[in-house]
Amino acid sequence: MAPKTEPKTEPRTEPGTEPGTEPKTQTGFGNQFATEALPGALPVGRNSPQKPPMGLYAELLSGSAFTAPRADNRRTWLYRRRPSTVVGGYAALAQPHWKTGAAAGQTVPPDPLRWHPVSPPPATEPADFVEGVRTVVVNGDADAQTGVSAHLVLCNRSMHRRAMVNADGELLLVPQTGQFTVTTEMGVLQAGPGQILLLPRGVAFSVAVDGPSSAYMAENLGAPFRLPELGPIGSNGLANPRDFHAPVAAFDEGPDAHATWEIVRKFGGDLWRATQDHSPFDVVAWHGNLTPVAYDTRHFNTIGSISFDHPDPSIFTVLTSPSDTPGVANCDFVIFPPRWLVAEDTFRPPWYHRNVMSEFMGLVHGQYDAKPEGFRPGGASLHNVMVPHGPDTEAFERATNAALAPHKLDHTLAFMFESRWRFRPTAWALRDGALDTGYAQCWAGLEDRFKA
Ligand code: FE2
Repeated sequence: MAPKTEPKTEPRTEPGTEPGTEPKTQTGFGNQFATEALPGALPVGRNSPQKPPMGLYAELLSGSAFTAPRADNRRTWLYRRRPSTVVGGYAALAQPHWKTGAAAGQTVPPDPLRWHPVSPPPATEPADFVEGVRTVVVNGDADAQTGVSAHLVLCNRSMHRRAMVNADGELLLVPQTGQFTVTTEMGVLQAGPGQILLLPRGVAFSVAVDGPSSAYMAENLGAPFRLPELGPIGSNGLANPRDFHAPVAAFDEGPDAHATWEIVRKFGGDLWRATQDHSPFDVVAWHGNLTPVAYDTRHFNTIGSISFDHPDPSIFTVLTSPSDTPGVANCDFVIFPPRWLVAEDTFRPPWYHRNVMSEFMGLVHGQYDAKPEGFRPGGASLHNVMVPHGPDTEAFERATNAALAPHKLDHTLAFMFESRWRFRPTAWALRDGALDTGYAQCWAGLEDRFKA
């Protein structure tokens, strides 16, 4: 009898965990967390006592209307050294590449669009997270609380004594290169390629990077992202709540605590700046269910066909932002992770498709099975409402003639921001964003194969 060997597992770095240190996160999605950086800082049994412990101020952050149904209600109580009202007046801050809403997009014909990768700037052109945002496509309207933008973040330095608050929407960061360490009012999270980080609307944060770094980012102007319903899948599967990591309370205690900080606020599509004489990261304790989270997509329980055909790509939904129409998302965040293809008598890549929903795609690493060559890591594609798309000529030929043995699609991570609202590219995306002007040629080799 052969000796039993332990299955080999890849070491995994949990978001928010420094190598060699204990985890500094708590797990779950949308559950009621309670955390304190100092014992006794969190009030017990009430939210707003006459005198909160340690001279802290109580502040409520509401991520949903007070009267939202309980299942949708998101709010967190913060106990901090100074309420966030203590900040100077705001003045406009120029960042011409961060666009918001359909009105900021360009008119384009109903062609499929694709972009080559864009690298972070060299060190001679310093750019932090705020300066590094390049909006690629927009839809919706920030004031109407609808729509989503897809950005690239191309940065090479950390935000220094600078924090950001986005009143327009929540941010879903999808790192492509480099490590992102994000300090928030609720604590610190990290994410690198293969992981994602969700920052709720209104939460102050500051992004640190360890060199040239890039990410895709959805700015969700609509309803907050949540886990999709599972229907007949049952009570487990896809992204499981326990694999999301929320931070534990942490606050600035060093020289940053009483330094001058710049607060950048995104408000109505514009950026504004103010200064204050203390760190915004002064929350000593908090409790609630409105919190940043990080997630490692390697924990996604991918489900697919074990007979024939493949299910609609909604089976790959990680998070969804619903619209007012049931089943029609303001934005779905969908991933195409490593998985086995085993379907019999099936054309295994995605089918040719026209969709009432609009599809913005990115590739974190590896190869996407419908576009083996032209769709490169760091690049992007856009297939708007009813724009035909599907496997390129090479992928079609290969898949049509492949022996249908079980096949592992490995070392790949593509994703999609899918929206009911048509995306409009920005002027930057059409002019400076490495637009692939030959994209449609990838289907030119598909000949008439009809034989009566
Ligand atoms: Fe599609």
